[in-house]
Amino acid sequence: MKIELREWSMDDKESMANICNSVERDYLSNRLPCPYTIEDAKWWLNMASKQEGKEGVFRSIMADGEIVGNISVEKKSDVYEKDGEIGYFLATESWSKGIMTEAVRQICEIAFEKLDIIRITGLIYEPNVASRRVLEKNGFELEGVMKRAVVKGEKVYDLCIYGKLK
Ligand SMILES: CC(C)(COP(=O)(O)OP(=O)(O)OC[C@H]1O[C@@H](n2cnc3c(N)ncnc32)[C@H](O)[C@@H]1OP(=O)(O)O)[C@@H](O)C(=O)NCCC(=O)NCCS
Repeated sequence: MKIELREWSMDDKESMANICNSVERDYLSNRLPCPYTIEDAKWWLNMASKQEGKEGVFRSIMADGEIVGNISVEKKSDVYEKDGEIGYFLATESWSKGIMTEAVRQICEIAFEKLDIIRITGLIYEPNVASRRVLEKNGFELEGVMKRAVVKGEKVYDLCIYGKLK
């Protein structure tokens, strides 16, 4: 399978909305609107195009030419400005094919090349084993665990802090 990252364009709003409406949200932050409308997609794609290469890098994940997911590294601010936070998700039917492991490898290369950062941080809810494996296979180290840091619906999770240095 050919896995490529591509810059988002405004033409991708339907794909973005479809993926966001079908993605498994158990381990995602509440920042992602639900339901996810075409207007939400327009806002996000517009933000990504304005900030691309300056405040972050934003890519669609393509598997054999089809958009199957979203991945980004966004710079933090203030004293954390040399740190980029990675985020990603994949349409459920594309899970467990090694797609995100390869996508993370590619976005880390892009982020370290294009952004003025010295590390990338991944914040993963403790039970999200697949996401933790994706980062570990890409050389991220578990740097610490914030106990009971996440409240999602009725559940309380520990938060795993992963880091990869430039
Ligand atoms: C987490 C997610 C990104 C993983 O992507 P993926 O492409 O399925 O992952 P990969 O196929 O590259 O597999 C990575 C590893 O996780 C393992 N894995 C995959 N699905 C798993 C599951 N449900 N439970 C346990 N391990 C799993 C794989 O076996 C592989 O490990 P291995 O090489 O040691 O065998 C994807 O499931 C997803 O988008 N989930 C919903 C959104 C989300 O949680 N995003 C991350 C927020 S931090």
